[in-house]
Amino acid sequence: MDFSYSYPDAAEEDVKRYERSFRKLPPAHKALLSHYPLKFQRLRRCISVNSYFIFNMVQAFEPPLDMSDDIDVCEDSLLEDAPNDHSSSVERNGCSCQSTSTSRKMCCSKPDQDYNVEDSNMTQVTRMEQQELQCDGFCGSNNESHPHALLHSKEMDRCDRNPVNDSNENVSSSPHGWLDPLLQLNVPLVDVDKVRCIIRNIVRDWAAEGQKERDQCYKPILEELDSLFPNRSRESAPACLVPGAGLGRLALEISCLGFISQGNEFSYYMMICSSFILNHTQIAGEWTIYPWIHSNLNSVSDSDQLRPVSIPDIHPASAGITEGFSMCGGDFIEVYSDPSQVGVWDAVVTCFFIDTAHNIVEYIEIISKILKEGGVWINLGPLLYHFADIYGQEDDMSIELSLEDVKRVALHFGFQLEKERTIETTYTTNPKSMMQNHYYAAFWTMRKNSTAAEKHMPS
Ligand SMILES: C[S@@+](CC[C@H](N)C(=O)[O-])C[C@H]1O[C@@H](n2cnc3c(N)ncnc32)[C@H](O)[C@@H]1O
Repeated sequence: MDFSYSYPDAAEEDVKRYERSFRKLPPAHKALLSHYPLKFQRLRRCISVNSYFIFNMVQAFEPPLDMSDDIDVCEDSLLEDAPNDHSSSVERNGCSCQSTSTSRKMCCSKPDQDYNVEDSNMTQVTRMEQQELQCDGFCGSNNESHPHALLHSKEMDRCDRNPVNDSNENVSSSPHGWLDPLLQLNVPLVDVDKVRCIIRNIVRDWAAEGQKERDQCYKPILEELDSLFPNRSRESAPACLVPGAGLGRLALEISCLGFISQGNEFSYYMMICSSFILNHTQIAGEWTIYPWIHSNLNSVSDSDQLRPVSIPDIHPASAGITEGFSMCGGDFIEVYSDPSQVGVWDAVVTCFFIDTAHNIVEYIEIISKILKEGGVWINLGPLLYHFADIYGQEDDMSIELSLEDVKRVALHFGFQLEKERTIETTYTTNPKSMMQNHYYAAFWTMRKNSTAAEKHMPS
C-alpha cells in the first residue's frame, strides 16, 4: 500500500470518503442532506486555496531542503477535531512528535552579529534587522525530501480546472500556471498531518482568530518581561531567547517590546512558514486560508467549518522590531549547549516548549547555563510530554517529571522561583468548535541565582 500523499491529495481522499458515505445513504436520507454535494464542492475549493498558499510558501525557498527528519510540530489537536482516518497513522497529539535528528548542528546568529551558517546539514536562519526583512535562505542538504512535495500534480490539475471561490463564493480565476513538475512528488502521510498542524499554528500566531489564544499565552509573558526590564533601551536592549519558537509571533512581539529577540526552532515546516510570513509578507491579510476544513467533528455549522481566515493579521516588517531579531534553526540542545552560549542571555522564554524534551532535566540545565547571573526564565505551558506515548526502540527515552519535580530540579540548577500561577488556555484550538481542550498551564518566573542555589546543593 502506498502511504505517500500530498496535502491536496490527502484532503481530496477525505472528501471522496465523505462522498462515498453520502452515496450509501437511502434516497430519503439523501434528500434531507441535499446541500451536501455543494459542501463537497466548497471543500474542494477551500483545499485548492490552502494548496495555493502552501505552494507560494514553498516556492519562496530554494531547493534542496531536507525535511526527512522533521519532528514535532504540534502540541495539541489530540482530542479536538481528530481530523480523519489518517490520525491513526500519527501519535497521540494528532501530529507527529518524534524521531529527533541528531545530525543537526548549530546554525545561529548571535543577537549582535550577522548570522553565520556553520554546517551544511543545517536548517536556515532568518533575521530581521533595521526594519528590513530578508530571507537568508537555507543551507544545503543531502536528502531527496523536498518541501514542494507538500503539493502534488493531481490536485493541481484539478485546481486548474476548478475555479477558486473566495469566502463570499465569488468565483475568481484559478491560479493557472503554478503547477510545476517539481511538485510531482509525494510525502509520507505523517508529513501531511504536519502541514495540517502548521495551518492551525498559523491561526494561533498570525490570524485575528488567534488573538484570544495569544492573549492567554503570550500576553502574560510580554507583561512579565516588560515589568522585569523596566529600564531597557533600544541602545542597550536585553537579549531574550525563545526556544521552540514555533511560527515566531512571540519572538517577534518580544522584539517589538525592545529586546534583542532570538527564536529557536528545529522543525523545517515551522521554519519555512515563519520565514515566509516574517520575511515575505507584503501586506496584512495578504493570504486567505481555510484552517478548519480538515475535520467534520464538533462543527456547529458548515459555514463555521468552511470559514476563511486572513493571514497575517499584521505586517511583520512594520511591527516595530528591535534590531537583532533572528530565528535560529536547530535543536535547542545542540545549539545552546555550545560553550559560546554560556551566560549570554538576559531572559529565556519557554512557551509550550519544556515538555518537548526527551529529558527535561537537560533542558533546565541548559537554560540555567545560558542565562546570565541574575537572568530570568519565564515559562508557560503544560507537561504533556511529547515522547511519553512513544513505544519504540529500546533507546527511546522520555523523562516525565511532575511540576513539583520540575521546580525542584530548577532549584538545583540555580533558579529561584519569583512568581508562579496557573493560566487557563487553549492551544491551536478552533474557537468555534464544540470541543475545546483547556490546559491549566504552569506560568512562572525564575531567576538564576547561583549563590542562593549552592545552599540547596545536597551535601
Ligand atoms: C508545542 S510547540 C510551541 C510553539 C510556540 N512556542 C507556541 O507557543 O505556539 C513546540 C515547538 O517546539 C519545537 N521544538 C521541539 N523540540 C525542539 C528542540 N529540541 N529544539 C528546538 N525546537 C524544538 C517544535 O518544533 C514546536 O514548534
